[in-house]
Amino acid sequence: MILVTGGAGFIGSNFVLDWFAQHDEPVVNFDKLTYAGNLNNLLAIRQRPEHIFVQGDICDTARVEALLSTHRPRAIIHFAAESHVDRSIHGPGEFIATNINGTFSLLEASRAYWSALPEPDRGSFRFLHVSTDEVFGSLGPDDAPFSETTAYAPNSPYSASKAAADHLVRSYHHTYGLPTLTTNCSNNYGPFHFPEKLIPLMIANALAGKSLPIYGDGKNVRDWLYVSDHCAAIRKVLVSGRCGETYNIGGWNEKTNLEVVDTLCHILDQLAPKADETSYREQISYITDRPGHDRRYAIDARKIERELGWRPVETFDSGIQKTVQWYLDNQDWVADVQSGAYQQWLEQNYNLRNTVQEVTQ
Ligand code: NAD
Ligand code: DAU
Repeated sequence: MILVTGGAGFIGSNFVLDWFAQHDEPVVNFDKLTYAGNLNNLLAIRQRPEHIFVQGDICDTARVEALLSTHRPRAIIHFAAESHVDRSIHGPGEFIATNINGTFSLLEASRAYWSALPEPDRGSFRFLHVSTDEVFGSLGPDDAPFSETTAYAPNSPYSASKAAADHLVRSYHHTYGLPTLTTNCSNNYGPFHFPEKLIPLMIANALAGKSLPIYGDGKNVRDWLYVSDHCAAIRKVLVSGRCGETYNIGGWNEKTNLEVVDTLCHILDQLAPKADETSYREQISYITDRPGHDRRYAIDARKIERELGWRPVETFDSGIQKTVQWYLDNQDWVADVQSGAYQQWLEQNYNLRNTVQEVTQ
C-alpha cells in the first residue's frame, strides 16, 4: 500500500480518486482536516475498503511512526501543507509548523521506518515530496521558464516554507540515502479546488453576484495545469523517477489573471447567463495588490517529458470548460465549504483592501 498525506485537500483528494480509478492498491490517507481538508471530496470512494482514512497531524512524529509500522507502505506521497499564499501573509506560523516542521517530522519517521526495512523493500521504497514552482521566485516577461536547475528565490512565507521543505528532502537523500523524489508543479485547477484560490473564488463570486477581485493590474502570469494531469505526472514520477531527482511539472499554459477571469466570465455567460443579460465581466473590480506579488511563473516541463514520457492531456480550453461545469454541477459542495470560518477569511483578506478605481493599462 501507499501512504498519502493531505489526501483530503484539493490535489490530494484528486490524486486518491485517480489512484482508485487505475489501481486496487490500498491507500492510507493521513490528513489533519484543516479548513482545507474535506471528506466530502472522497465520497465517491467511501465504499472502498482499500481506502483507509486516518485523521492526524504530520507534525506528530510518534503518530506517523505508529502509522508506518502498522500499515507498512511501500511509498509515501506527501501533499499535506498549508497552501494559500494570502493566508501565509496574514499568518505565517502555521506554514512554518506544517510545511517545515511537519515535513521534518515525516522525514524522520520515514527514515527510521525505511532504515529498518529488509531488502528488497528498502531498495524499492519511495518518499515523493509534492512541491511548487513558487520556490523559484518571480520571472520577468522575457525570462526563460523555471527549469530544475533554476536557483531557489522564494518570495512569500508560503514559498519560503516549501523551499525549506524541499531542501530538507534533498538533504535526507544526500545524507542518509533516503530514496526521495521531488516534484515542483505550477498552478493547478479543477474539481474540489477550495474557493479561496483564484479560479474557484471567481466562479463562486460570479454566481453569487459579488465582485470579482483582481489584485493589482491583473497582469500577473501563472502557468495553469488541470489537476488530473498533475496526478498522472506524480504517478509517473513514483514509478520511474530517479531517486534524488526533482521534476518540474507544468501545463504550457501561461495566462494573465485577467485572461483567466475573462475566460471564466465568457464560459459562465454561455452556461449560466444572468437574468438581466449583462456579462459577468461587469463584476470585475481591481483591488489593492498582494504584498510581494510574484509577477510571472512559467515551467519548463521538458525533463519529465524526455525522461518519463509525461505531457499534459488537457489544454487550458478543455480543462477550464470542465472546471466551470463541475462548479455549476456541485454548488452544494461550494455552499458547504463556505462555512463561518470561510466568511471570516473573506473579511480578513478582502474587506481591508481598497478598490482601485483606475488601472494603468
Ligand atoms: P490544500 O490546501 O487544498 O490541501 C492541503 C491538505 O493538507 C488538506 O487536506 C489539509 O487538511 C492537509 N493538512 C494541512 N496541514 C496538515 C498537517 N499538519 N497534517 C496533516 N494534514 C495536513 O492544498 P493543495 O492545493 O491540494 O496542495 C497540495 C500540495 O501540493 C501542497 O504541498 C502544495 O504546496 C502543493 N502544490 C499545490 C499547487 C496548487 O496549485 N494548488 C501547485 C503546486 C504544488
Ligand atoms: O504556482 C503554484 C502555486 O499556485 C501553489 O504552490 C499554491 O499552493 C497555489 O495556491 C497557487 O498559488 P497562487 O498564489 O499562484 O494562486 P492563487 O489562486 O492564490 O492566485 C493566482 C493568481 O491570482 C495570483 O497572481 C493572485 C491572483 N488573485 C488571487 C486571488 C485569490 C487575484 O487577483 N485575486 C484573488 O482574489
